[in-house]
Amino acid sequence: MTQPDYVEENRRTWNEDAPNWVAAGEASWASEVPTWGQWAIPDDEVGLLPADMTELTAIELGCGTGYVSRWMERRGASVVAIDVSEGQLATAKRLGEEHGSRIEWLHGNAETVPYPDGFFDFAVSEYGAALWCDPYAWIPEAVRLLRPGGRLSFLTNSPIVTSCFPMDGSEAGFKLVRPYFGQHMFDWTSVEIDPGGVEFNLAISDWFSLFRQHGLQVVDFLELQAPESATGTPFVVPADWAKSHPSEIVWKLRKKP
Ligand SMILES: C[S@@+](CC[C@H](N)C(=O)[O-])C[C@H]1O[C@@H](n2cnc3c(N)ncnc32)[C@H](O)[C@@H]1O
Repeated sequence: MTQPDYVEENRRTWNEDAPNWVAAGEASWASEVPTWGQWAIPDDEVGLLPADMTELTAIELGCGTGYVSRWMERRGASVVAIDVSEGQLATAKRLGEEHGSRIEWLHGNAETVPYPDGFFDFAVSEYGAALWCDPYAWIPEAVRLLRPGGRLSFLTNSPIVTSCFPMDGSEAGFKLVRPYFGQHMFDWTSVEIDPGGVEFNLAISDWFSLFRQHGLQVVDFLELQAPESATGTPFVVPADWAKSHPSEIVWKLRKKP
């Protein structure tokens, strides 16, 4: 099936970048206690995953090197993980073999997952589909995959930080430089600094409206704050920015029973 151009672009960019994520993937697979997002916020402050996943069937949408899937498996879930990048999946599969994991790895687009309706109890994304897929495609697909009463949790950039991303691809500043309302696609393919990839985000009211339209109830919504100890600019958001403004958000949702 032909994929949208942005899916191909993101596959290309993540294949190119995959070698740079191997070491972090190995460290996260080795870690028994999850931490979340760019600021490694402790699990007890974020709680992206249910504490006990015994007998749950779970899917990770845009799994990268697969460590979130491993954390779910450790909590007792049967896990399927999908990613569009062969390079990222190669790392995930190798680590899966080394750790004796039974995770099923799927190569494909998280907007069209080859699983039947209502198959999963839980779906998750940490900067996977949540950032790199079109919300108007992947949210309805996640809802389709969940059974009634099933849960979807995801972590991504806040729409406030995306409003502060300069047009040239440089790091977020303290000025609003893009419209907040109507934000959707962020095409980084021809920026001056570190070109490549297409990301997505929505204004908070548009996320709410999308969830309502697809029968998702909001269980919780978090704005993550970088800890005092954070320094530097791990990616494109300086620590000082993220100590005073939310650079990351977490949605915890439930499909109407
Ligand atoms: C930042 S990683 C997320 C994994 C991990 N949680 C992390 O933060 O490193 C982003 C992943 O999303 C994947 N991705 C991008 N577009 C995708 C799509 N359309 N379908 C599935 N995966 C996709 C990329 O290949 C990449 O492995």
